[in-house]
Amino acid sequence: MSTWMVYCAEKSREALLRALGVIDEGITACFANGCDDLRERVACGEPGEYGVAVGPASEGVSDINLAAAVANDGNARCVVLAQEGVSGSLRSRAARAGIDLVVDLSEIPEEPRARSEAGPLDGGPGVPAPLVPARRGIELPDISQRAPILVVCSGRGGVGKTAVASVAACVAARWGMRACLVDLDLSCGNARGCFGAPGKSDLASLASVDGVPGDDQLRRLCVSAAPGVSAMGPCDLPETAELALPYAGAVLDFAAREYDLVLVDTSTTFTDAVAQAAQMADRLVIVSDGKTGSISSVARMSGLAIRLGVARTKVARLENRADPREKTNYALGRAEVGLEAARVFRVFDGRQEVGDLLSSGQAYDLAEPGYPFADSVATFLAQLLQELGRLPEHDEARRAAEGTRSGRLRSLFGLRREAR
Ligand SMILES: Nc1ncnc2c1ncn2[C@@H]1O[C@H](COP(=O)(O)OP(=O)(O)O)[C@@H](O)[C@H]1O
Ligand SMILES: [Mg+2]
Repeated sequence: MSTWMVYCAEKSREALLRALGVIDEGITACFANGCDDLRERVACGEPGEYGVAVGPASEGVSDINLAAAVANDGNARCVVLAQEGVSGSLRSRAARAGIDLVVDLSEIPEEPRARSEAGPLDGGPGVPAPLVPARRGIELPDISQRAPILVVCSGRGGVGKTAVASVAACVAARWGMRACLVDLDLSCGNARGCFGAPGKSDLASLASVDGVPGDDQLRRLCVSAAPGVSAMGPCDLPETAELALPYAGAVLDFAAREYDLVLVDTSTTFTDAVAQAAQMADRLVIVSDGKTGSISSVARMSGLAIRLGVARTKVARLENRADPREKTNYALGRAEVGLEAARVFRVFDGRQEVGDLLSSGQAYDLAEPGYPFADSVATFLAQLLQELGRLPEHDEARRAAEGTRSGRLRSLFGLRREAR
């Protein structure tokens, strides 16, 4: 049973409740009396207690501004904007504003659909399809016949998704794997910047062909970023990001056939592309950084993923910028985020040097064993691959999976001096 705080015009209430019934199971809806009332009630709740739905309202602030304000307040489990007839530009504005889902009420069936005991997105008979994404991730062959796909996501920016994904790709390459780093932060992605931004890889260009893009076309988008690491995406121009949204599934399907490991960096907001990746992920890694509010953003992200049909067993948590001197508190926040079974990994704080090396394009150097940051990324990657039965035959990989260090600890200071 989940509680939704709802604000919309009287005449839209019924349609909005039907929409929420499709998104979520067993909902209880409370109607707010106005914009301020809505924000106040959500702010007074526990973090993540309420989902918020803003529907067509006849007066006052615009619906998108209200939904954006609630998302920005940060206490809601997730924020849904529901409108009649949704344009592409509304979806992108909403995504930029941190709104989790945009629902087109004109696409909601008249009759409430049958519910499943097992959950709304498990694909069983009579189970409603998810509203977002419109396109589901592509069905992949069994993991023994393709590369594992690890998707790194978070409900907040700046927690280290790009840093972890880029360095993990380099660590894998150092173990002899051919890694593909796919940047699905389509409008603002900077993963290639961690390698000195080699080449161009504009995923929006896929929209210029009819139908499903062919392997040749996808291969042309793979640029060599570092020895053993190829990169794909994002889009050259932020305003064309929307064109690439439908192709995320095809890109990942291709990468999983061509490479040994696919690492996916994502945007903070759950776009269609990120949702497809989440659905195709062998592991969805939710990154947080221990700052205030990080538990509620992990809760928002995991709740969304699970409603999209991602199995709880595929969700892992990564606490970034951890202090190596402190023990992991495995219990912390687990109950609150509904991920009691999820494995928690830690990546250590590498301080300013990590940012300096990544911004000067030195991800590959940063991945060298012997540095606490790189070693903790290596351990996280090795243990995930081991769970998936895909740990490569390599001494460093085996050591990393056991969590033992490869040799003496080094300081990044020297590397950084070389970077200057
Ligand atoms: N473990 C870490 N130690 C030190 N700096 C880090 C660490 N993880 C990330 N950073 C730095 O924090 C900043 C934000 O990280 P980034 O990967 O861009 O976040 P995101 O992709 O989630 O928005 C970057 O400057 C990055 O280099
Ligand atoms: Mg990023």
